Amino acid sequence: MKSSRLSLADSNRINIRTTEGNNSTPKTVILVAGARPNFVKLAPLYSALASRSNKFNTLIMHTGQHYDSKMSDIFFTELGIPNPHIHLGVGSGSHAEQTAKVMIECDKVFTEESPDMVVVFGDINSTLAASVTAAKRGIAVAHVEAGLRSFDRTMPEELNRLVTDCLADLLLTPSKDADRNLEREGVPRERIELVGNIMIDTLVKFLPSADKSNILETLDLQPQKYALLTMHRPGNVDDQAGLDSVLDIIEQIAQDYKVVFPAHPRTRKNLVACGGRAKRFMEGGLENLVMTEPLGYFDFLKLQKESGVTLTDSGGVQEETSFLGVPCLTLRPNTERPITITHGTNHLIGLNVASAVEHARRFMQEPRVAHQAPPLWDGHTAERIADSLERFLFGTGREREHRALTVAAREEALKALTV
Ligand code: UD1
Ligand code: UDP
Repeated sequence: MKSSRLSLADSNRINIRTTEGNNSTPKTVILVAGARPNFVKLAPLYSALASRSNKFNTLIMHTGQHYDSKMSDIFFTELGIPNPHIHLGVGSGSHAEQTAKVMIECDKVFTEESPDMVVVFGDINSTLAASVTAAKRGIAVAHVEAGLRSFDRTMPEELNRLVTDCLADLLLTPSKDADRNLEREGVPRERIELVGNIMIDTLVKFLPSADKSNILETLDLQPQKYALLTMHRPGNVDDQAGLDSVLDIIEQIAQDYKVVFPAHPRTRKNLVACGGRAKRFMEGGLENLVMTEPLGYFDFLKLQKESGVTLTDSGGVQEETSFLGVPCLTLRPNTERPITITHGTNHLIGLNVASAVEHARRFMQEPRVAHQAPPLWDGHTAERIADSLERFLFGTGREREHRALTVAAREEALKALTV
């Protein structure tokens, strides 16, 4: 009994590291990203950590969850992210397959690289998989965008957020509501740090590049005379009723305005499978509908900024439109980003055709109202995160002590097993 526990422990040996280390040696930090919104969040943090090379040896790990060049490569090029140091190439699959593949491949890398910390972003399957794998190896996990909750457990992202936050050692939040959610769940206060919204760092830095985009000319659009639409949530696009509502909304708004719809691959695949009206629309059969491939960050940001109204089920787009002061209609019954409603331009509409069309028409006609960005959505979140990682990895703060105690307790437990 004892020896079988020991041999198991050998093959799954957790990577226990004490806090007393050499403070002059850079710490190895692996940034894990897998899908489009992750790349937008990773870019500024990579820059901030890479510029502190005396403190951090920073590695980028791409899980390969998104792989089309328009869902992945273009973001690395435009945002100046170096090629990933590690590429897992996991691709698509069921939730279980995708999560399991990331876990298996991550585990090999974590064993090989022995990082001091793994940083995960957002709420995708790769986020969950890397957090679980790192935590089981005893590697510290930092979660960027911690604490957001839709309170809707039918969304895969909500499950990913709950598990990741439960395991993370450092919970880096974008807004106060996220802190409150974590405290309510019993996360110790010293693990939570309000750092602001890292997506806004990227937006602030690259808005001048987006302003130079000629996407409006290319698509023959006039500023504020078109609606922008993005849809990819399974709850909206994975069944016929949801897709029918999306097509109804497009058809009705397109009676008066151009509708620009850069279709996510999940959505395009489902529209193709639908046939009928969807097929007709995709083949150019609806005047005023401008359907495109997924767009690069610069073109898409320009389209958001100049749209009369943006309709979406994307998390990131709710935040970006709020920052830009563009009216946003969220076609979901809930949002994990309530601050975009209380402090931004977001309106929760659900997949309600009449309400979406009525609101879209109204916002297309009304002048924009000036908005102030939420606190700490200021373009400096990555620097705050870099400071926080430094404190965590080199400091003697309470969070470090807490972790040291956990590690020491675990070492004691392992020692007890070996006698
Ligand atoms: C994923 C995230 C979602 C995030 C979204 C960002 C999960 C559970 N979902 O959703 O939270 O908002 O990314 O866009 O992690 N596909 C391609 N090419 C690609 C990528 C995907 O064709 O480069 C197709 C495949 O058919 C795939 C489908 O899109 O099966 C869905 O991709 P997947 O990464 O599983 O989920 P997303 O819907 O993209
Ligand atoms: N985005 C983009 N091109 C597009 C659609 C979105 O560059 O065609 C950007 C958008 O500006 C934001 C991010 O992708 O930065 C949002 O990703 P997505 O909507 O896929 O994921 P979510 O935020 O819902 O997880």
